[in-house]
Amino acid sequence: MPRRLAIEVKNLWFKYPESEEWVLKDINLEIEEGEIVAIMGENGAGKTTLIKHFNGLLKPVKGYVKVFGLDTREHTVAELARRVGLVFQNPDHQIFASTVLEETMFALKNFGWDLKKAEERAVKILKELGLYKYIHTSPFMLSGGEKKRLTIASVLVYDPDILVLDEPTVGQDYGQKRRFAEIIYRINREGKTVIVVTHDVEFVADYIDHVIVMAKGKIVAEGNSTEVLCNDEVMKEARLLMPQLGLAALMLRKHVEFRGNFLRLPIFIKEVRRWLNDA
Ligand SMILES: Nc1ncnc2c1ncn2[C@@H]1O[C@H](COP(=O)(O)OP(=O)(O)OP(=O)(O)O)[C@@H](O)[C@H]1O
Ligand SMILES: [Mg+2]
Repeated sequence: MPRRLAIEVKNLWFKYPESEEWVLKDINLEIEEGEIVAIMGENGAGKTTLIKHFNGLLKPVKGYVKVFGLDTREHTVAELARRVGLVFQNPDHQIFASTVLEETMFALKNFGWDLKKAEERAVKILKELGLYKYIHTSPFMLSGGEKKRLTIASVLVYDPDILVLDEPTVGQDYGQKRRFAEIIYRINREGKTVIVVTHDVEFVADYIDHVIVMAKGKIVAEGNSTEVLCNDEVMKEARLLMPQLGLAALMLRKHVEFRGNFLRLPIFIKEVRRWLNDA
């Protein structure tokens, strides 16, 4: 049975009212329920503008965006926000409560949850994100990476069907990135759709299979991350740097092919793991 479409974007054109130029130019894409997708591309490509269409914060100038079949032009942000949790690129645009716990409970209170249940739920999520020790601290005292995790907690807490993360790995150390990946997989196992906007090629190479690449307001490539991230032309167009291991492997391949041989070297760490297990 075909899966439901979580997000459907059709012939989407968008420009900001004060600007002359189109920021999104005829975007078409479909994301199925239960997928994990990365959106990548150079600065100013239009990634943040695109995902702000997914919860109706921005509305198409031409074309349409549907969320589980609901046309975003016909629904308010408040209606869509329960289903689509968007974590902003800049945490300072999202944080306003006076303690970490209050911040995390905010949406649940808005949705009319019983206070005790809301607190239990918030504490559970804060523990998962390594922020429990700060529950009574002011969010503004947190480090950059901790603030980012707090904004993720305050969205994860209400369990949206679609989680959209704008640059979640910026400022996060290796352990926190792994923790994000585990959380993404956990909620995905629960049937959620996860969309991650990122410049972090290594993170995508390690954890996300489906990637969409944008440049100058258009989608320039889409597909399996192993193929897309190793496509020299696409990566150049989107001004992304191939994973270091991939770069080394491709250089070695060229070198070996030059001598009339073909050597299949692994390009991603996950391939190396498989390779070593097989050996
Ligand atoms: N509120 C706004 N008003 C006018 N122009 C804007 C506004 N927000 C973004 N833009 C412009 O739209 C274009 C796309 O911006 P957007 O933030 O979507 O890019 P991005 O791909 O998310 O980039 P980055 O990787 O730097 O986050 C840029 O040229 C930017 O200057
Ligand atoms: Mg952005």
